Amino acid sequence: MKAYALTSYRNGGTLEWLDVAEPPAGRGQVVVGVRAAGLNPLDRMIAAGQFRQLIGYRLPQVLGQELAGVVTEVGPGVEDFAVGDYVFGRPAINRIGTFTRAIAVDAADLAPMPAGLGFTEAASLPLVLLTAAQAFMEKARVKPGDKVFIQGGTGGLGSIAIQVAKHLGATVATTVSTKNVDLARELGADVVVDYRTQRYEDHVQDYDVVLDTLGKDETLRSMQVLRPGGTMVSVVGTPDPEFAAQLGKPILKPVMWLMSRKVRRAAKQQGAEYKFLFMRADGGRLAQLAPAIEDGSIKPLVGHTFRLDELEQAMELSASGRARPGKIVVEVRE
Ligand SMILES: NC(=O)c1ccc[n+]([C@@H]2O[C@H](COP(=O)([O-])OP(=O)(O)OC[C@H]3O[C@@H](n4cnc5c(N)ncnc54)[C@H](OP(=O)(O)O)[C@@H]3O)[C@@H](O)[C@H]2O)c1
Repeated sequence: MKAYALTSYRNGGTLEWLDVAEPPAGRGQVVVGVRAAGLNPLDRMIAAGQFRQLIGYRLPQVLGQELAGVVTEVGPGVEDFAVGDYVFGRPAINRIGTFTRAIAVDAADLAPMPAGLGFTEAASLPLVLLTAAQAFMEKARVKPGDKVFIQGGTGGLGSIAIQVAKHLGATVATTVSTKNVDLARELGADVVVDYRTQRYEDHVQDYDVVLDTLGKDETLRSMQVLRPGGTMVSVVGTPDPEFAAQLGKPILKPVMWLMSRKVRRAAKQQGAEYKFLFMRADGGRLAQLAPAIEDGSIKPLVGHTFRLDELEQAMELSASGRARPGKIVVEVRE
């Protein structure tokens, strides 16, 4: 079967279509026939070698972080899934490769597809839904009544993060460009700041939680809207020592402590806390949130669809910054 793979890190990453064998289901795994796969900025970052030292992919590495599809084979030790089940999920970061027709995935990383969703919509969710859930339910522990500020509220992540924060009972403020102000309100944001014409500091103060999706200067700038005792969760800022533990590389803890010293110190001066998040696969969390998807509290937002064999175009659009709000998804058609 054809698979879209990173074959070399030279020249900013060489991506090619390869012929690969269909994988068998190992212990604890199922093989999923991919019906749709979502794109994420992470695909480009991996291709550009940004995770080369940390994850150490052996090339060629098939790209693609998430999927929706149908179980075609069940490996030994798997009890929760059967052939023919509709599933969605995000394989573990060292087991990616959904830009093809079939992939073996740890069953623990999958969940039954929410009723009422098509494959395309379902494939747009796992990575961003897990990111938002882990940011707000694990790192920041958002409670009803908390005030949450989300940068980039109509991006792939922001559009789902708004809905997850609202689902948890928060008041939500967000930044978007002028053309997306109405959409951000439709997604549930209570305060919408047009970042092209307004300064969010004038509208957002004393917040409990900030989700930093922009990084660079915006990390320290947006931290200033936190109240004392508040929490910034950054998905793009400097990694903190906890990330070294998550990677299973405690030896990197001092490095990440040093790297994050400035931002952690800035947070401390404000009486707040800085936490870096690198989302992880978690089928159980997806299953837990499925009812909120089924009752319409959390709705997927797909801006563009392509066929699997149009992946180059999809990747170009993703990199261009000109995509419509929400996610880009490639579909595997028979
Ligand atoms: N660490 C993790 O686990 C993790 C997980 C998911 C995502 N991420 C990272 O999070 C970032 C966002 O991901 P995504 O999937 O949402 O990307 P995306 O779909 O490309 O969205 C980016 C969004 O940022 C907005 N934006 C750009 N400049 C802005 C500014 N100055 N102020 C406010 N908003 C601005 C854009 O809005 P306009 O189009 O309206 O300008 C767009 O909606 C990426 O860097 C990604 O790698 C990290």
